[in-house]
Amino acid sequence: MTQLAALQNHQVRLAKRPVGMVKDSDWNFTNEPVSEPGEGEFVVKSLMLSLDPAMRGWMNEGKSYIAPVGIGEVMRAGGIGQVIASRHPRFPVGATVNASLGVQQYCKISAADGSDKSAALIDLALAPAPKWLNALGMPGMTAYFGLLDVGQPKKGETVVVSGAAGAVGQTVGQVARMMGCRVVGIAGGKAKCDFVVKELGFDACIDYKAESVRDGLKRSCPAGVDIYFDNVGGEILDAVLTRITRHARIVICGAISQYNNTSAVQGPANYLSLLVNRARMEGMVVFDYTARFPEAIAAIAGWMSEGKFHSREDIVDGIEVFPAALQKLFSGENFGKLILRVAND
Ligand SMILES: NC(=O)c1ccc[n+]([C@@H]2O[C@H](COP(=O)([O-])OP(=O)(O)OC[C@H]3O[C@@H](n4cnc5c(N)ncnc54)[C@H](OP(=O)(O)O)[C@@H]3O)[C@@H](O)[C@H]2O)c1
Repeated sequence: MTQLAALQNHQVRLAKRPVGMVKDSDWNFTNEPVSEPGEGEFVVKSLMLSLDPAMRGWMNEGKSYIAPVGIGEVMRAGGIGQVIASRHPRFPVGATVNASLGVQQYCKISAADGSDKSAALIDLALAPAPKWLNALGMPGMTAYFGLLDVGQPKKGETVVVSGAAGAVGQTVGQVARMMGCRVVGIAGGKAKCDFVVKELGFDACIDYKAESVRDGLKRSCPAGVDIYFDNVGGEILDAVLTRITRHARIVICGAISQYNNTSAVQGPANYLSLLVNRARMEGMVVFDYTARFPEAIAAIAGWMSEGKFHSREDIVDGIEVFPAALQKLFSGENFGKLILRVAND
């Protein structure tokens, strides 16, 4: 039994609302003792935390699909951890969970009403922890349901995905291939483009840092784009809109090119292409699919075990590097799902 009183919890708290790019000075580091769980509570030791573009949005004041992180609060983060003390029957000591742990070393989770909605038990025998934050975790669920439910791919269609080498993009492209689609990625740099084509099996990839996306689309999608899974927004969304087919579907998953804007979000100037092509553009939020996660996990884990599905993670170490690590998402320095390892076991 761990002596909780002897443990210090190292935490990262939001110090102020950022203006533009998130900065080191937007954070405070604090320490506090770990306290014993009360009835219906359990204490989790963080192993790995998920660093997500959405964190930038959670730092802003204002209405969104989830409340902003308050000034002075521990930064919100999903993660994988191990239960080290428990007064909850479904989460015994030793269990591994996927939960909203925050950017900290220990997290006390309250499920006093007996519900298990605050955390999900995971099986590390099925896949190692990083996969549970990537293809079997929130990004994978986003890709799976965004593509299949909102995009509704049909065999033979052409699917284009931006942020192709990233967490969501990797899974979108591979699931689209499983559905019999032709898949074209858009990513920054040769290394990322080579990875999605040679290792993930995409049909082509456009390096938006080396050529115009319009030119790349003309070459890679001669018959047009039936589904565009948009992770980046901005100019790339506009370029894809010029190439869509009749009844195309555009899945609005994210707009990372716009998250650090200090002026208004750049809207799609070419939106009348939706009218001309009788096309549809629809937003999606992964949390709407929570009840169906087991379905997606079973499908993706099945493909993984057959060797048909691959994923790449970019793991950085230590809670103190969190501010610098988060910035990597916006400069494109991360190569694969960005994960902060907080402890080894
Ligand atoms: N709707 C939902 O429920 C939901 C859930 C999860 C994620 N998302 C969204 O999905 C998107 C991808 O998330 P992720 O976790 O998979 O991140 P990620 O792709 O693993 O990492 C972010 C990547 O975005 C690219 N990027 C950054 N700035 C860019 C810019 N100005 N223009 C074009 N590309 C840029 C970079 O790749 P390059 O090197 O290729 O530029 C960077 O590596 C984000 O927009 C995120 O907010 C939405």
